[in-house]
Amino acid sequence: MNSNQPLNAAVIMTHLKNGIWLLGIPSGVFGITNRTMVSFADGYLSALDLAQLFIASFLFITWLSCKPEESFNSVNSSQQSKGNSDHSQGFLCPGKARMYELQAYHTVSQEYILPFSSMCQIYHLLNLSHLETIHAFSLNNLKVIQVTHFQPTAVGGIIKFQTTLDSPLNILRIWRLPIVEVILTLHAPYTVELCIPAYNDKKIIVIFNVVPISNKEHQLLIDIYTDLKWPKPLLQILLHMASCLTLFEDLPYLYKLSQRNLSCLLNLNRVSNHETMRLFKRFVELYGSTMESLQPTDS
Ligand SMILES: [Fe+2]
Repeated sequence: MNSNQPLNAAVIMTHLKNGIWLLGIPSGVFGITNRTMVSFADGYLSALDLAQLFIASFLFITWLSCKPEESFNSVNSSQQSKGNSDHSQGFLCPGKARMYELQAYHTVSQEYILPFSSMCQIYHLLNLSHLETIHAFSLNNLKVIQVTHFQPTAVGGIIKFQTTLDSPLNILRIWRLPIVEVILTLHAPYTVELCIPAYNDKKIIVIFNVVPISNKEHQLLIDIYTDLKWPKPLLQILLHMASCLTLFEDLPYLYKLSQRNLSCLLNLNRVSNHETMRLFKRFVELYGSTMESLQPTDS
């Protein structure tokens, strides 16, 4: 837990900076509105009034452009600058390269501190069948038809699987075709990418970074990228809502997983051989024996 103090401090600082910046927006709007009303109160706009309005507007635009960095970037750059030797940072690096590659398409960032072991999160992310059961509401009864491809890599693996939307009234049809091939990639033990095709070769890519905090707590960073040509504010609202809803659905499932013995999840002989669990099995092959010892201890 002590090894994560720099991370926690960076997260608090990020929240603080964002909070101060957000407070400045209504203050700026109030200041400009007030100045405008005062200027026009006598029905005459003097050169001094104009100058004051110009200065207030300039300061407000400057404030808007000083938005603090996105939390994920600031947290990780903070970790890097301090040369943090935490093992989780090393695991984040391969994923960071992918995120850098997708940077131009970045649309939404979310971060959560969740009261479950990071292992529960990883198990959940790599278990394809939970898309059908746990997310039956948000994904509107999506079905995993079959796994079409699996490729182990040196540090993880790639699994491709076909999914279908059963109902013709499925709301997800605004994003995608009835049957599409979804790709799930394990970039590193704590970095998972979900690639969902949309219409006209467009994609929605979600990158999950899991940062262990303690045996009973982890940080979940969700970054969503898309090349859909929709107005960005609309996309941001929709993707934020979708991400919140799926997380809300996941909470009871994560709690259930947290009640299980960690060694059961990491025991290669006990991992299901079902095709929907192949990527998790690859995770256990690579990291199962060491993961338990790498979990930060409570102290
Ligand atoms: Fe989920």
